[in-house]
Amino acid sequence: MASYLQIADDEKGHELDLFCVPRHYENDLDKVIIPHGLIMDRTERLARDIIQDMGGHHIVALCVLKGGYKFFADLLDYIKVLNQNSDKSVPLTVDFIRVKSYCNDKSTNSVKVIGGDELSNLSGKNVLIVEDIVETGRTMQTLLSLLSECNPKMVKVVSLLVKRTPRSSGYRPDYIGFEVPDAFLVGYALDYNEYFRDLSHICILNDQAKEKYKV
Ligand code: IMP
Ligand code: MG
Repeated sequence: MASYLQIADDEKGHELDLFCVPRHYENDLDKVIIPHGLIMDRTERLARDIIQDMGGHHIVALCVLKGGYKFFADLLDYIKVLNQNSDKSVPLTVDFIRVKSYCNDKSTNSVKVIGGDELSNLSGKNVLIVEDIVETGRTMQTLLSLLSECNPKMVKVVSLLVKRTPRSSGYRPDYIGFEVPDAFLVGYALDYNEYFRDLSHICILNDQAKEKYKV
């Protein structure tokens, strides 16, 4: 079982005015729940765990856009540092796919996969899927069944966050940064209808903001 940092349901978080938050979002957020520095520290350790398990063979890191882009960039930077400072190293190549399953703060039943290179390029490779958050698990299960048709050598999934929710299908990623309460989170590339990707910390969105940015 993957170990992770657990953020408790009664976690009070941190007052917004202790951190730098863009003025345009000040009234939209309740609390800072995971400060950017803590995200980075946990990501550094995930990079080490991943390289220990997967580092024997060419790794293709597959970024699930858009929400995964910050975590992907920072995780790969840490993996690069490990690769360039040890006697053993493996080539790392990247690919990007886009998945859309959300409208407002609700997961919809359809999971759409768009873009990326030919998935057949993944045949025989060690594939690392990099995702921002797993909620029901449907997005990842859909993606995994698509990938398995391409006969990769190994597929591992790292998700920065996993939500504790009764809506979960039971799916758990191989590597998890944090387990978080069942609230709608934004920041560090997680969005609400495309807003809040330009916020460094992971925060809880307030109800007023859900109305304000509703589509
Ligand atoms: P799942 O298919 O229900 O596991 O949902 C996964 C996708 O829904 C994630 O990749 C996110 O894009 C989105 N998502 C789920 N929960 C949140 C959240 O709290 N904030 C922002 N996006 C979320
Ligand atoms: Mg995502």
